[in-house]
Amino acid sequence: MRTPIIAGNWKMYKTMGEATALVNAMKKELGSFDKAEVVVCPSFAALNTVYLLIENSMIKLGAQNLFWEKEGAFTGETSPLMLKDCGCEYVIIGHSERRQYFHETDESVNKKIKMALDVGLIPIVCVGETLAEREASKTKGVIEKQLKGGFNDITKEDMANIVIAYEPIWAIGTGKTASAAQAQEVHKFIREWLTNNFSSDVSDSTRILYGGSVKPENIKELMHEPDIDGGLIGGASLKAESFVAIAKNAVA
Ligand code: PGA
Repeated sequence: MRTPIIAGNWKMYKTMGEATALVNAMKKELGSFDKAEVVVCPSFAALNTVYLLIENSMIKLGAQNLFWEKEGAFTGETSPLMLKDCGCEYVIIGHSERRQYFHETDESVNKKIKMALDVGLIPIVCVGETLAEREASKTKGVIEKQLKGGFNDITKEDMANIVIAYEPIWAIGTGKTASAAQAQEVHKFIREWLTNNFSSDVSDSTRILYGGSVKPENIKELMHEPDIDGGLIGGASLKAESFVAIAKNAVA
């Protein structure tokens, strides 16, 4: 059984005060909910503030990025050890916004995955195609290239500590969700890729999240698909009401 994950990617939103209000409201609305792993990924500046509030709750902490070295003269970057120090258990790697605006490549994604594993952070590795790539029927080829590059030299054992998120770029922040069938087709493809490149055990146990305009209204349908194990939520994770409703509807 794969335990579902509902992860909130707060992106560059929420000051410390706003993050405090959001996480307190989430805690209240979640109560003793434990049917899915609930993860929040605030900006670096709010990580520790949030951690101190969720320390004894069911909510887990994730970061949105990390650097591939533990320390050094890398102005503006954040060490994976600092993320651990802030209380992080997860880290998003290779989000399409990082690839698009900060020129991250499959190679840098690979280095970051290895560093996350080295310090004991669970990477949530994002893959996904653009609208033009989908319309040119290139989706599977694009995903395969991202998986191949991102997971270069990653072992079967490492895969036990990795989560994948399929996020079609055309569905991120656009209000356009992939249909459950469209998402399932790619999730199934990723699972087959895991069978062929690692093992059927890895394929059976790896959690593959869907991301892209997930809302309380569409999560249930997505979760009914056999290969969708949760969601990576952007916009709807910025309000306690919608994020908690997504978590609850995901397992209803
Ligand atoms: P969205 O973002 O839910 O606002 O579409 C998802 C993401 O970028 O992870």
